[in-house]
Amino acid sequence: MKVLGIDFGGSGIKGAIVDTDTGKMLTERHRIITPQPATPQSVADTIQQLVKHFNYEGPIGCGFPALINNGVAMSASNIDKSWIQVNAEQLFSATTGMPVFVVNDADAAGIAELRFGAGNGAPGVVLLLTIGTGIGSALLNDGVLLPSTEFGHIEFKGDIAERYCSDAARERQQMSWEKWGKRFNKYLLYMEKLFSPSMFIIGGGVSKKMDLFQEAITVNAKVVPATLRNQAGIIGAACYAADRTK
Ligand code: BGC
Repeated sequence: MKVLGIDFGGSGIKGAIVDTDTGKMLTERHRIITPQPATPQSVADTIQQLVKHFNYEGPIGCGFPALINNGVAMSASNIDKSWIQVNAEQLFSATTGMPVFVVNDADAAGIAELRFGAGNGAPGVVLLLTIGTGIGSALLNDGVLLPSTEFGHIEFKGDIAERYCSDAARERQQMSWEKWGKRFNKYLLYMEKLFSPSMFIIGGGVSKKMDLFQEAITVNAKVVPATLRNQAGIIGAACYAADRTK
């Protein structure tokens, strides 16, 4: 099935048309800068611009950077606080005139990596972490996703983990990759202690930079970049929409 997949991130809102049976993107990825503040209507309007860009009609999947419950945003750590309790599915569907299905962004990446990427066929517990403006998580066991985990919000080093070692924290505090890598490793060691995954999959922007911090990583588990790199969110969101329309 051909579905428009969208990834709503803290800095960019990206989309592409995806073949959900093969996990391949059928178009180039198109990126629009996330409006500031990222209020519900301004994000909905940006999504409408993506729909127009692709001249697209049909179901849409959207990865969303917060906790989502039945299409409703339940948290807003890195987006405008006015999102809380907004039904994103209804708002995006009303603005675009298309059926839009909304899923947590890290869960979307988890779905994509599970079907078409590094998690495909991986046995046991796999923990995918998307590192960007925040830290998102997707926990997989023998190919099954436990949805809505929020391991970026686990308390760590006196704050929540994403304020300690997200990519935004690295930029904000102008950390070298070496320094950030050491911090990220401490977080991975803690996750390993709690969940004993056999593999960590690293998604988000830093997945393209792994050679810059790989040396700092000392966990026993394998640590691999998301095979689908920063496209995992788009591909997974499209798959989520395809599943919901079946
Ligand atoms: C949110 C998560 C999201 C992650 C990555 C966190 O701040 O709470 O729901 O997956 O950022 O965008």
